[in-house]
Amino acid sequence: MLWQDSKGVDVGWGIRRCVRSAVIIMRLPCSFWFLLLFSMGGFLLLLHLQDLTETVQQQRPGAKLIFPHGQVESKEQCPHCLDADPQASVHPVKLQAQITKNHRKLLLKIPSVLKQPRGGLYGQAENIRRLTKIQQSRRRQMREVCAKYRSSNSRMRLVNRQHVSRIYVEDTYKLLYCEVPKAGCSNWKRVLMVLQGEASSTGEIPHEQVHYGNHLKRLDSFSHQGILRRLETYRKVLFLREPFERLVSAFRDKFESPNSYYHPVFGKPIISKYRSNASKLALRTGEGVTFKEFVQYLLDVHRPVGMDIHWEPVVQLCSPCLIDYDFIGKFETIEEEANFLLRHIGAPANLTFPSFKDRNPKAERTSSRITQEYFSRLDLSERQRTYDLYYMDYLMFNYSKPFADLY
Ligand SMILES: *[C@@H]1O[C@H](CO)[C@@H](O)[C@H](O)[C@H]1NC(C)=O
Ligand SMILES: *[C@@H]1O[C@H](CO)[C@@H](O)[C@H](O)[C@H]1NC(C)=O
Ligand SMILES: *[C@@H]1O[C@H](CO)[C@@H](O)[C@H](O)[C@H]1NC(C)=O
Repeated sequence: MLWQDSKGVDVGWGIRRCVRSAVIIMRLPCSFWFLLLFSMGGFLLLLHLQDLTETVQQQRPGAKLIFPHGQVESKEQCPHCLDADPQASVHPVKLQAQITKNHRKLLLKIPSVLKQPRGGLYGQAENIRRLTKIQQSRRRQMREVCAKYRSSNSRMRLVNRQHVSRIYVEDTYKLLYCEVPKAGCSNWKRVLMVLQGEASSTGEIPHEQVHYGNHLKRLDSFSHQGILRRLETYRKVLFLREPFERLVSAFRDKFESPNSYYHPVFGKPIISKYRSNASKLALRTGEGVTFKEFVQYLLDVHRPVGMDIHWEPVVQLCSPCLIDYDFIGKFETIEEEANFLLRHIGAPANLTFPSFKDRNPKAERTSSRITQEYFSRLDLSERQRTYDLYYMDYLMFNYSKPFADLY
């Protein structure tokens, strides 16, 4: 004991004895308390395990299997530092890729929704395994890029209302969906409305109801505690799209057909700043912005009008380095991946991801061919700087470089 061995300190005999007896007296209650705490801890752990088992049973089979909420554990210790520890998000979550008993149970529940060529139980199991692995590697990639590029001063950044303002809440199935425009968000909102019981099928929800019906709550409308609780316990979902393709899709949607908001608000300042001999009509209506002019606006450090969610990079819209998304889907394969997720959360079996094209249904969907064509109207420097602007989206979500001459 430190007290007994300490030399050179002139402690009187009486005091020493007093201290010694105090130590002896304290020793008993101390070990007693230790034992008590230990057994209480064990008891609490038991309760907790029981609790977990119940959650697993409440969820549909397989739910825990594919996305074990590893991050919930670490956040329980420190619920308010949502992402204070950069190391916390680096650990790749171990996902099981083997076909287990739970997988088989899951398979029995989903007879025909995961479309695959071969059919049969084996084909479906293969599909689940493949889609699970894809999720696993996307999440790992996202976390690695975040860990690598997180600037030192953002170490202690906490999630604030602004960060969660694009996230929609579905309380029945405990989903948080970050809205990325031009990446299937209207159809996702329809699905959320059906899950929430606002409609019995996605087909009956017209476009206006999706965006202006105010049926879905955003995460920033809840209390601080409500936000944290949902971030910790709900499944956080993100769907995105190849950045250049998303940009062209946004441009075509907002500038190539009549639009009473984007033409006056964005078109007018863009034409007046970047078109040297603009006609009076163009200046008055803001119609006819070219893709090159639009990109000039985008790359301008002194933009005459601000950013917009339709072309804002996903890293800004959804804060993936602060909010550890559980499911990262891609527009390129949205039906398959969204249906995989829907079956996984135990959504009603007749709910599948719809394929409505809301905006300009007659215009051809923006493809990679169309994207290439639009970008060929720019010079190399403009393409390079546009790529730089979306570089983090490319890197974090593993989209390959869109043109060979970019670096
Ligand atoms: C990134 O995408 C390529 C194909 O484009 C794929 O081969 C590779 O495995 C992916 N990497 C990760 C980490 O997902
Ligand atoms: C799906 O099933 C529910 C009842 O379980 C029903 O109310 C709904 O209309 C069905 N939707 C479709 C699109 O068939
Ligand atoms: C001026 O506008 C006309 C069409 O209005 C166009 O053909 C011409 O190329 C423009 N000139 C310049 C220098 O932009």
